[in-house]
Amino acid sequence: MTLECEKIGGINLAQGVCDTPVPKIIQEEAFRGMENGVNIYTRFDGIHELRGAIAEKAWKYNRIKANPETDVVVSAGSTGSFYCACLALLDPGDEVILFEPYYGYHINTLLAVETVPRYVRMEPPDWSFSEKELEKAATARTKAIVLNTPGNPSGKVFSPRELELIAEFAQRHDLFVFTDEIYEYFLYDGRIHISPGSLEALADRTITISGFSKTFSITGWRIGYSISSAKWANRIGYMNDLIYVCAPAPLQYGVAMGMSQLDSSFYEDLSREYSRKRGKLCDTLKQAGLRPHVPQGAYYILADVSSLPGNNSKKKAMYLLEQTGVACVPGEAFYHDASGKDLVRFCFAKTDQELNEACQRLGQFSSKSSTLLSVR
Ligand SMILES: Cc1ncc(COP(=O)(O)O)c(C=O)c1O
Repeated sequence: MTLECEKIGGINLAQGVCDTPVPKIIQEEAFRGMENGVNIYTRFDGIHELRGAIAEKAWKYNRIKANPETDVVVSAGSTGSFYCACLALLDPGDEVILFEPYYGYHINTLLAVETVPRYVRMEPPDWSFSEKELEKAATARTKAIVLNTPGNPSGKVFSPRELELIAEFAQRHDLFVFTDEIYEYFLYDGRIHISPGSLEALADRTITISGFSKTFSITGWRIGYSISSAKWANRIGYMNDLIYVCAPAPLQYGVAMGMSQLDSSFYEDLSREYSRKRGKLCDTLKQAGLRPHVPQGAYYILADVSSLPGNNSKKKAMYLLEQTGVACVPGEAFYHDASGKDLVRFCFAKTDQELNEACQRLGQFSSKSSTLLSVR
């Protein structure tokens, strides 16, 4: 959709690329690093300052105890962290439970390491799942369960009750819990983030994955990390060394500086700002007759586009792009079957200027389509 969007010079609400500004302090420290000769490999699991800042934040924000010397592995984005964790801890043929709608890189990473995904469906409006379905997905070969909270594309924020249930389930079946928490600061309507790894029952079996792409608007810097018990972190670190050697050196210093200097107001502002953008796009979609499932977190909106022409979500997304110049992602990208055929995903991590322009175009589409309806 990004390529199609570029062809017509449209507005790309498809890809999860936030083009909001990078905090100055982070940029300046990265520049300073380059100027001061920080241009060589770092320790395989990241620089001391960043591992320390991550461990401190893990305790203060996530309520996870992590030893920065043994439990934290800085990697090439959370994507790199997930890939290294899967390679290190899973074997071909292992079954892994994945909630759907899922994030594309999760399914493709699981397939790349030759594991067998088992799907558990989450249903709107709150993207809840059935305990029975979860139980049905487990077999003697199940080795892990993947969580994403807040989730892409659904915005799902797992509730304390759901996490307790998953904790009991993971313990009973002796599973790893891989949890991708990259959107941990993007929370709406007073929701709070609970890290599965903070639950006592899960502490030893959880690989907590996160990164800075979204929080600091640095998707191209490629800095993320995993936190796990030393015995798992050791294996994950080995894979990280083998594949990436280390994360970009001067950029690690920039991120470490941002983590130590930006206070809670930065993260609160982030939530407020994105909540405003969520409201704006949801309102526009409603007016356009593209019914949004209002997200609880993250920065995507899944919208019901059954009213658009076309018998699958790709045709519907292409129709919308042709009519409005606004690109979105076809919903079938988030399901292993045709269940997403009436859904598309919009990303609202955009500058105000771009989001306003997109909303204006979608708004005109709404008036165009209502004219069509009245003619009919
Ligand atoms: C759920 C989820 N995890 C990970 C990523 C990628 O993160 P990173 O840039 O840290 O690799 C994304 C980006 O869209 C995402 O949506």
